Amino acid sequence: MKWGARGQAYEKVASTEPEEGGWEQRQAVPFVVRIRRNLATCLNIIFFASNIILFGVTLWTAKQHKSPNSLLRQTNAFSPLLDRFEFTFQKVKNNASLFNHPYSIYKDDPSPEVDAAWEDIADTPVLVIDREDVLKIGKDPEYAVAVPEEFGYGENKYFAVNDGQHLIHCLNEVRKFAYYDYYYLPTQGPASSLPALHAAHRSHCIGVLLDALTCQPSLNVVLFEYMEGQNDPWPDFDIWRQCQNHGQFFEWMNGLQVPREKIKGWDWSKGRGKERPMLEELKKPKGGGAEEGTHQEDNSGSAHGQGHGHGHDGTWS
Ligand SMILES: *[C@@H]1O[C@H](CO)[C@@H](O)[C@H](O)[C@H]1NC(C)=O
Repeated sequence: MKWGARGQAYEKVASTEPEEGGWEQRQAVPFVVRIRRNLATCLNIIFFASNIILFGVTLWTAKQHKSPNSLLRQTNAFSPLLDRFEFTFQKVKNNASLFNHPYSIYKDDPSPEVDAAWEDIADTPVLVIDREDVLKIGKDPEYAVAVPEEFGYGENKYFAVNDGQHLIHCLNEVRKFAYYDYYYLPTQGPASSLPALHAAHRSHCIGVLLDALTCQPSLNVVLFEYMEGQNDPWPDFDIWRQCQNHGQFFEWMNGLQVPREKIKGWDWSKGRGKERPMLEELKKPKGGGAEEGTHQEDNSGSAHGQGHGHGHDGTWS
């Protein structure tokens, strides 16, 4: 009852806005009297309600500004993924022991199991983003490869992979070069005669990893400890980090990815957009005929797509 009456009074006040100026003349006098009598109450209610709303909005805004996604927006260039996946932060203590104890498969010597683990975590699922996202990223949609409409994602969609996964892919590439005899010697011969494109892939990966590590350096600190039998202090790299939920993020991307079969099965010679000029280095293959074959193969895909012997490691395919 009370609420209903107040609601009514509120309506009357609200409708005395200038654009409804004729209202008072059209209505009976008792209403006007009632309005005046209740004006103070009404204003109080409005004031009270707006305070509650303002308080709620302030709390909500404060929470938004402290949310992992909004903090990550400040330390990343525009990424459509930040609009689509909700990150969480958690304190994680790393295991950085010199002798891989406790055991981590990623630090182990090469084996089919180690390869499988790395291929898994270093995968680069191909995602689909909108044209506006391409523009917000600061790229030209005329050059970005559009998703063929036959793929079923609609119009004006573009392929994209997460840079973080590309960095992990690169770490895996550098790891493989660190175990050169296992990964490359049988198929590529000695490192000194590594085909130019493979060598380029190696230095490309070293470069992008350095870029990422200097762009967003870890600001954590490492302490030193005394060790039995050792005179000098010893670094304790088992540090605490504030981590993003990479596992869930990666799972989420994997669930959304464009099926590889679709990408592999598509004829990329049709419906092509604007092309960039061919890289100088790819115009004239140096060296003998053996490399020519590699060049031809590499030219048809991306530098990342080339087979390196042990399973696929491509960004694209
Ligand atoms: C470090 O090792 C402990 C013991 O095996 C394990 O519980 C923990 O998850 C490891 N931490 C990380 C970050 O892998």
